[in-house]
Amino acid sequence: ATSKLWGGRFEEKSAEWVDEFGASISFDQLMAHEDLEGSLAHVKMLKHTQILNEQDANEIIVGLEKLQAKLAAGELTFNVENEDIHMNMEALLTQEIGPVAGKLHTARSRNDQVATDLHLYLKNRLQQVVVEIKNLQKVLVEKAEANVETIMPGYTHLQHAQPISYGHYLMAYYQMFQRDVERFTFNLQHTDILPLGAAALAGTTFPIDRHFTAKELGFSAVYENSLDAVSDRDFVLEFLSNASILMMHLSRFCEEIISWCSYEFGYLELSDEYATGSSIMPQKKNPDMAELIRGKSGRVYGDLMGLLTTMKSLPLAYNKDMQEDKEGVFDAVKTIIPSLKVFAGMLATAKVNKQKMQQATEHDFSNATELADYLATKGMPFRQAHAIVGQLVLEGLKTGVNLQDIPLEKYQEIEPKVGTDIYNDLQSKVAVKRRHSFGGTGFDQVKRQIKNAKEQLEK
Ligand code: ARG
Repeated sequence: ATSKLWGGRFEEKSAEWVDEFGASISFDQLMAHEDLEGSLAHVKMLKHTQILNEQDANEIIVGLEKLQAKLAAGELTFNVENEDIHMNMEALLTQEIGPVAGKLHTARSRNDQVATDLHLYLKNRLQQVVVEIKNLQKVLVEKAEANVETIMPGYTHLQHAQPISYGHYLMAYYQMFQRDVERFTFNLQHTDILPLGAAALAGTTFPIDRHFTAKELGFSAVYENSLDAVSDRDFVLEFLSNASILMMHLSRFCEEIISWCSYEFGYLELSDEYATGSSIMPQKKNPDMAELIRGKSGRVYGDLMGLLTTMKSLPLAYNKDMQEDKEGVFDAVKTIIPSLKVFAGMLATAKVNKQKMQQATEHDFSNATELADYLATKGMPFRQAHAIVGQLVLEGLKTGVNLQDIPLEKYQEIEPKVGTDIYNDLQSKVAVKRRHSFGGTGFDQVKRQIKNAKEQLEK
């Protein structure tokens, strides 16, 4: 036998560098807290079912509680020899209470233990992520409220399309983040299922009570199938997919912020707290935080691709490949939470140049649809109106005359029913205001969205 916890059937020990390769303690110690929590619930169940007698169980409970205190005080040290957090904890418990510690692992395997730790870890983080998204949504609603009547160009193909309210733009992102909240909340349902009690893969002959353990740990359900319980990493993949979609949303928004901070757009100025300078060019104010969040979307996609690829050919049940599941999740968690915080702060403190935004809608042809719509309301088929306005734009581009500057007589030659009210309709602010259709950019519609959002956030 070798000195390993599982050393019984071994005659020769592995080289230190092989141990190091196989060990996960360098990163899975992030689940130390969860590991102790899981063990405590497990031993309480063993006591409750009388699989362990009161005295043994109580000794283990006291030992685990001591380890909890030491962990909180930063007094626990782990080593590679004990491979992972589970065996490190068992070794520490043995140091604490002696050989009775060996009874803790009754009716349990590291396979259901590691799955339990990961479920616990993610359950907590999912809740944090949702809180951070909601904080960002609050900033969006506040900013939207202050900018219902701020007019900006709406783009398609990054070409001026039709003027919109900046509040409307912000509320579009609110909706995307709302779907993120819903995805993570659904993700929580799949994470809120307890694998413990599946043992290695087949369940156990001990008369365990999995529902008792679930209640102890605050899980809503237990896995129906022991093979599934130890093989499933769908909940992690869901998390990484959701995190990727979230980062995609943040990244799109960042892309626009970066453009808008440029001299050419000039719609936005970031506060000094969320911008950086250049070591050589004294005039610079760079949107580094927005770029970094855009950049970090790449690593989160990488975390997702990594685990999808790791899992794709694994036979049931546990395989050591699955040890590769953790670093990606940890990385995604430590990326998305600060990204959300930084983004929310950056947006909250950015200054909007309302004038610049509105001006950009006043010397362009983004009121062309208004003109075509106007002619259509006078009875002209929309297709014909579209063609005529197209020609006016073409002429205007050559002569430098915008649609609102074409004299009334000329409009009346095109369509005798045209009145002076046409000039009202051609103003960008009016164009926005009049878009009352449900979900449109009309001021009343933006206000409706804001009202609903506030109610949603209060829930
Ligand atoms: N360190 C392992 C992991 O992270 C724990 C489970 C080990 N189980 C086993 N049968 N080798 O996946």
